[in-house]
Amino acid sequence: MSLVVKEIVKDFGGIRAVGHVSFEAPPGAITGLIGPNGSGKTTLFNLVTGFLPVDGGEIWYKGRRIDGLKPHRIVELGIIRTFQITRIFPNLTVLENMLVATRNNSFSHLLMSPKRDGGPARALELLEFVGLAAYKDEPAAALSYGQGKLLELALSFMVEAEMVLLDEPSSGINPSLQAMINEWIIEENKRGKEFLIIEHNMDLVMSLCHHIVVLHHGQKLAEGTPVEIRNNEKVLEAYLGY
Ligand SMILES: Nc1ncnc2c1ncn2[C@@H]1O[C@H](COP(=O)(O)OP(=O)(O)OP(=O)(O)O)[C@@H](O)[C@H]1O
Ligand SMILES: [Mg+2]
Repeated sequence: MSLVVKEIVKDFGGIRAVGHVSFEAPPGAITGLIGPNGSGKTTLFNLVTGFLPVDGGEIWYKGRRIDGLKPHRIVELGIIRTFQITRIFPNLTVLENMLVATRNNSFSHLLMSPKRDGGPARALELLEFVGLAAYKDEPAAALSYGQGKLLELALSFMVEAEMVLLDEPSSGINPSLQAMINEWIIEENKRGKEFLIIEHNMDLVMSLCHHIVVLHHGQKLAEGTPVEIRNNEKVLEAYLGY
């Protein structure tokens, strides 16, 4: 197993945001993490990536225990993430943001594989792909919300990570671009990259993911293949609210 989460717990004051959640992301898979608003999805990302300490349980990646490690150590081990709210540098240009992604010391040990040019050429290729090449010399602050999401996604592909955690990559992005991003995820997955994706668009989750974990009120409600999840009564109830 690549990513293994065992009985993890996170409390915020009196609120249990994540309560004894366990799951295993199948090796080589695109795993979906779904659940209603406030069900603990982003918190789980924060725990896996070391942005928040766990209050209980264990997280393992490729046979190594990673809970308790600093975020940059987890990046070094091959896990990279994007944020639901983008974390780009508004005063840097779009291209500078791309280049900073690899120079930032937390990423410096993960420079590109020999096959990939991680420098400006790769940055431009990625900006071209997400349709931001024309903005490369503009400050990132000039981008719209959707464009910011695209930049953040492109940034995550500047780093040669083995597992990519995407927090709602397609929200606020138009359908044709969403489709391109999905193809890109599928392509990168075929090359061996694993994904853990938070996504509210059910059709997208069902078509993209091999395995799906459903959270509800901080607990795991269900886990299985898209077909299993689609036919799960408890999942339908959680989403339809009855
Ligand atoms: N830093 C924090 N401090 C206090 N409470 C928090 C914090 N982060 C999250 N929470 C609470 O934990 C619960 C889970 O939040 P989380 O952001 O993980 O949900 P989510 O599933 O990502 O929701 P959404 O789909 O809306 O993004 C919510 O009740 C939220 O208010
Ligand atoms: Mg969230």
